[in-house]
Amino acid sequence: MDRNVPQHIAIIMDGNGRWAKEKNRPRTAGHYQGTENVRNIAIKANDMGVKVLTLYAFSTENWKRPQEEVNYLMGLPAIFITKFLKELMEKGIKIATIGDLSAFPDSTRKVLEEAMEKTRDNKNMTLVFAMNYGGRKDIVDGINRYVDDYVSGRVREKMTEELFNSYLSTAEYPEIDLMIRTSLDYRLSNFLLWQLSYTELYFTDTYWPDFTPEEFEKAINNFTQRSRRFGGLKDEN
Ligand code: FPP
Repeated sequence: MDRNVPQHIAIIMDGNGRWAKEKNRPRTAGHYQGTENVRNIAIKANDMGVKVLTLYAFSTENWKRPQEEVNYLMGLPAIFITKFLKELMEKGIKIATIGDLSAFPDSTRKVLEEAMEKTRDNKNMTLVFAMNYGGRKDIVDGINRYVDDYVSGRVREKMTEELFNSYLSTAEYPEIDLMIRTSLDYRLSNFLLWQLSYTELYFTDTYWPDFTPEEFEKAINNFTQRSRRFGGLKDEN
């Protein structure tokens, strides 16, 4: 494994709508193309040695979109899994989710749960779909779980950063090294707020459906050239 490759990358896959608009096609066409691109980037990330790739597939705010678009977005996991599960298995990629799936239709949940079960023992990269995910909700849910544990006596320690990490939906994953946002908006949009504290950020004007594996590699190369100091001084070795 190349030690310079980020272990955990998170992506805000923005620009599906604008991609479609430029082509005079419906927004759903952009989401479809975006789903195809999830495959391309996941395969590339896995081939490069990334261990965890977390993708913002549906935010807690996306419910505000027209019902028709929400319905289409709900169907994307099935499209993705039907088309690409075989390849994910061959590549040893495991599927996981963060976020509250309980609000999703049974069919969407079932497809995701089956894919998680089938890929459970895959050992290469974990592909995490953040679905009905919100960074603030992640934090508040974590606090509530801690309060329950503390009040019931299951946990006696006062809160620390390390302990708090264990109450987040990302508890089992390494720190996020690099966060990429496509389509040139400089916002976090309520994604992984706590987890991105020391993450390197990379923004590109490319729309998600056009974000190629080559550009992904460019983002990684850009990351490896940065000096990460975590608030300290530069290591001169
Ligand atoms: C933002 O683009 C994108 C989304 C809200 C959905 C992202 C989802 C995918 C790319 C596919 C997910 C795949 C699976 C398998 C779950 P936008 O619609 O906000 O674009 P715009 O800002 O140009 O309108």
